Amino acid sequence: MAIIRLERYGMKTYHPEPKVIKFDNTNVTVKMMDDSWIIDQCIGHSPFIPKQGYVWKHEDRCTRLLIPGDQYEDTMRFFRDTYGNAAVIAWDGNVALGHIIFVPKAEARKRKMLFHERMPASAGDDKTLVVEAVAFCSIGGQKYRRRGIGRAMAEMMIDWASQTGWAKIQIFGVTSGLFPGDWRDSCMPPKSFWQKFGFQVIGQTRVNKSLRDVIDIVGEDDPRHSEAERRQKQEIKVQLQQGLIPEEEWAYDFDLEKSLTNAFVNILKK
Ligand SMILES: CC(C)(COP(=O)(O)OP(=O)(O)OC[C@H]1O[C@@H](n2cnc3c(N)ncnc32)[C@H](O)[C@@H]1OP(=O)(O)O)[C@@H](O)C(=O)NCCC(=O)NCCS
Repeated sequence: MAIIRLERYGMKTYHPEPKVIKFDNTNVTVKMMDDSWIIDQCIGHSPFIPKQGYVWKHEDRCTRLLIPGDQYEDTMRFFRDTYGNAAVIAWDGNVALGHIIFVPKAEARKRKMLFHERMPASAGDDKTLVVEAVAFCSIGGQKYRRRGIGRAMAEMMIDWASQTGWAKIQIFGVTSGLFPGDWRDSCMPPKSFWQKFGFQVIGQTRVNKSLRDVIDIVGEDDPRHSEAERRQKQEIKVQLQQGLIPEEEWAYDFDLEKSLTNAFVNILKK
């Protein structure tokens, strides 16, 4: 695989092979955002079919990335052209099932992107990426869940980041639980997901939103949810009321340099 220097920015480009996941006569392709598939809107509710070239109105402001709707495509293109990439997207044909978006921490702070208030400046920020959002089949895409697609997206992000010279990936706003209600937890999967990839806790705070608000959200009776999903929501509501889900959230990081060193040491030991 070719690794070329982007002369203007001193960054490397790297194109991981797309990963195809097959099940039930369905082929899902997980790949880095490319020219034909620049994300052109916030994927708050996925799956969706992108309308390339559609000019979003200013009111379509994306609440997730804090980018006004009409600047979304340009912003993603800017990240892609400047840094080599900023998203992994899962596709079933022309339907975007979901994405994981990761941007340089300095950009996230400068642009006041999601969770920026909780991102203290620290040494090495110029080599740090932050995960801005993960959205995957948030509504009506349950048949795609638990097929390894979320894992494939996260692993592709880590592979891309380590091959292009980033030292760390940080994630802010990671909550403790609500995993069963993952279609609307937040933009960030909870800690049990990230720990599977070796992310380590770097900070802990109280949740931004009170659990009372969460109960209200969980209590919504969305007709797009199946009976099983509604039952799960009721179970979460009870757990919240009983205080079984802690009112805490975490910040995590993944030290790419350390993980590469450890992998190398393990190879030498064998
Ligand atoms: C977290 C998320 C990425 C998981 O995607 P997925 O493709 O269903 O998950 P995978 O099949 O790749 O599973 C990855 C790992 O997470 C675990 N996992 C996934 N969903 C889980 C759940 N609901 N509860 C517990 N563990 C879960 C799996 O067991 C798996 O671990 P393993 O490989 O050790 O078995 C997905 O649920 C998500 O994006 N949630 C956010 C929802 C959203 O879109 N919200 C609104 C948008 S802003």
